[in-house]
Amino acid sequence: MDKFYLTTAIDYVNGAPHIGHAYEKILTDIIARHFSQRTDNMYFLTGTDEHGIKIQKTAAAKGITPKELCDANAQKFKDAWKALDINYNRFIRTTDEDHKKIVQKIFKKLVENGDIYKHSYQGLYCSGCECFLNEKDLTEDGLCPDHLKKPEVVSEENYFFKLTKYKDAIIKHIKENPDFIVPAFRANEVLNQLEDIQDISVSRAKSNVQWGIDVLDDPEQSIYVWIDALSNYITALGYDDENPSEMFKTYWPADVQVIGKDILKFHSIYWPAILLALGLPLPKHIYAHGWITIDESKMSKSLGNVISPTAVLEAFNLEHPDAFRYYMATSAPCGKDGNYSDDDFKEKVNAHLANSMGNLLNRTLSMLVKYFDGEVKEEFFVNAEAERIKGSYALLKQALGKIKVVENHFNHFEIAEAAQEIISIVDAANKYVTDNAPWTLAKEEKMTECGEVLTTVLNVMCIISALIYPYCPNIAANMAKQLSFDITKKLDDITECEIKAGKLITKEEIHPVFLRVDSELADKSTKK
Ligand code: MSP
Repeated sequence: MDKFYLTTAIDYVNGAPHIGHAYEKILTDIIARHFSQRTDNMYFLTGTDEHGIKIQKTAAAKGITPKELCDANAQKFKDAWKALDINYNRFIRTTDEDHKKIVQKIFKKLVENGDIYKHSYQGLYCSGCECFLNEKDLTEDGLCPDHLKKPEVVSEENYFFKLTKYKDAIIKHIKENPDFIVPAFRANEVLNQLEDIQDISVSRAKSNVQWGIDVLDDPEQSIYVWIDALSNYITALGYDDENPSEMFKTYWPADVQVIGKDILKFHSIYWPAILLALGLPLPKHIYAHGWITIDESKMSKSLGNVISPTAVLEAFNLEHPDAFRYYMATSAPCGKDGNYSDDDFKEKVNAHLANSMGNLLNRTLSMLVKYFDGEVKEEFFVNAEAERIKGSYALLKQALGKIKVVENHFNHFEIAEAAQEIISIVDAANKYVTDNAPWTLAKEEKMTECGEVLTTVLNVMCIISALIYPYCPNIAANMAKQLSFDITKKLDDITECEIKAGKLITKEEIHPVFLRVDSELADKSTKK
């Protein structure tokens, strides 16, 4: 693998980030960290989508300029991603000067090529979706089905993009590339939507929408949300038709673009059409994740159940975001909806991270100190020919074999499924310890056998720390430190014997990698 370029949706900035936004950024960060264990050449883009009528109206209502509103809220997203250890390379804002200039050039090129034309139009505009809706998509009461608001009737002369020209090419691409849309079960939905697509409005009259990027040769029109927003994936790389940047040549096409299921249409129809019109290759995968509900209800301001990701970290007094990252990432199988609940959070992270994984390392290292003064002896290592305890080598092999299983899940963006495999190694190692009772072996003075059990588990823990690293980077680093294992090692270079013979650890150097989440703290509700 020579490079990996991945992106998230860019979030609207009319409010602060909630755990739905966080879910997407966590999934993407986990994918990025996993692939950074397979390639050195990684680029991870996220950011904010800042233009449009909604921002203009919210800012006006607050008596501030749209830019002031965007600056304040974009910072909240950056702060939240910092708290969650989202390790992006660039945070693009659609108000960035380089982005705006390239968008104007893209628009101009599309006009020159005849893909964009001017047309008088009357349509139903939903500012929640920032798009025109068809009459047949509305509810019986004439409301937008997603925002339950009546769309505005808008009559304007706008620029239109010839989406219909690319319909057949997109249908062909989706059919010929069954893994273009992930998960595959969403492809049919997109093919159905493609059946009745029309050309789309890509500008708004300046008299109605001032907060947008000017059309270069027609300042009475501003480029409207989706062309502006979708282009971020290439403007961030310095896309330039005449003089392509090194970054662009290196990273485009994207390896995966992570988005929510609600904006799949824009990413699997509009975006490919724009790219085809520009003569650019399409992204390899569009991964549409499901939505996060709170206690099984839709998150909404009116229900008052919107949770900010940092509120969870504070309510549970978490010193790093690993438990929250792990919980969110494992909340749903690939593409399905997930749920957040305080009780479930506590129960899951205590069981998986504290009781199963953390305790296993802690107990094993403590026994190594107790019985061997923290030293691993040569005769404790096993291989295919030599094992004293039946099952030692099989466990090691099983753990090593899971690396490929986990990689394969990541190739299909099955993040929760991959985590399940990692926890299954933890469970197998715990069972191996229980079955072979190293404390009994020590009592019976079978010291080599006892050392073999402990050393085998410690070698397995090296593999586990590498595999859990994308989900829980802090816990993994802490585990690796106590194992003297290099957490930056590429997955391909990991062997069944990462533990070195000799003194590994002292009593003072053993620390629990994850403390149970305190049940009383959880009673401080996360819901604001
Ligand atoms: N600005 C557009 C995206 C433009 S991408 C070129 C947008 N913004 S958004 O703020 O409404 O949503 C940003 C992302 O967060 C989307 O991928 C969306 O699906 C995701 N989520 C918003 N609420 C969510 C949940 N409750 N659960 C999971 N993801 C959710 O759309």
